[in-house]
Amino acid sequence: MKDKNVLIAQGITKTFDTGAPTEVLKGIDLEVNKGEFVAIVGESGSGKSTLLYILAGIDTPTEGSVVLADKDLATIGDAEMASLRRHDVAFVYQYDNLVPHLTAYENVTLPLLLDGLKEADYKDRVIALMTELGIGDRLKNYPNELSGGEQQRVAIARALAINPKLIFLDEPTGSLDRERGRQVMEILKDVNEKRGVALVMVTHSSAHAEYASRRIEIEDGRIK
Ligand SMILES: Nc1ncnc2c1ncn2[C@@H]1O[C@H](COP(=O)(O)OP(=O)(O)OP(=O)(O)O)[C@@H](O)[C@H]1O
Ligand SMILES: [Mg+2]
Repeated sequence: MKDKNVLIAQGITKTFDTGAPTEVLKGIDLEVNKGEFVAIVGESGSGKSTLLYILAGIDTPTEGSVVLADKDLATIGDAEMASLRRHDVAFVYQYDNLVPHLTAYENVTLPLLLDGLKEADYKDRVIALMTELGIGDRLKNYPNELSGGEQQRVAIARALAINPKLIFLDEPTGSLDRERGRQVMEILKDVNEKRGVALVMVTHSSAHAEYASRRIEIEDGRIK
């Protein structure tokens, strides 16, 4: 892989075969540089989430290849994939981001716990991170006690806690009102600029796509 890329996808197609086969993605090539912020836009049903899942290795393409943080997802083993998820890439879903019976702090630290790290080694760092994201006073609250914007910030904190190279985000502001959405976008911009974490974000909002350094549009299964 070229040193400058954190993600290289080539010739991605995806056909869903539920009765009649539908080719949702028809050949997508995408390279994301280290520290880049890419917005993916397109109409509802155009295949944005499908593409994001494939790029993140959550789903597999029908054809094509994805190299993510130097790993070819087609040939990577389970252990390597687990390691990639624990250390290099994180995913923020639009809905149901958080584990309901864990507090905000426990949600953020879950990936670190699963990685076998000792709490003493990350506690202060995580509290500082959550404070920076404006949820330092919500550590002990459960998700259902948090606003939508706070929940999204917890999900972003959880993604950041592993110090990833790249975060995928599917409509991170989709369920938020205008002001909360703007706040989350400012946080993401900051995360990208100050920490140098690459972001690949699906959004419906052309205003939010403006925060990205590059915008790609999916239309009829291809990049427009
Ligand atoms: N598992 C599946 N089986 C069959 N069809 C699917 C599956 N997942 C998605 N699709 C279809 O693929 C198309 C693209 O779906 P996708 O969720 O990627 O769109 P999207 O661009 O994210 O839309 P939205 O903006 O509404 O979230 C849709 O027509 C959808 O019905
Ligand atoms: Mg979607």
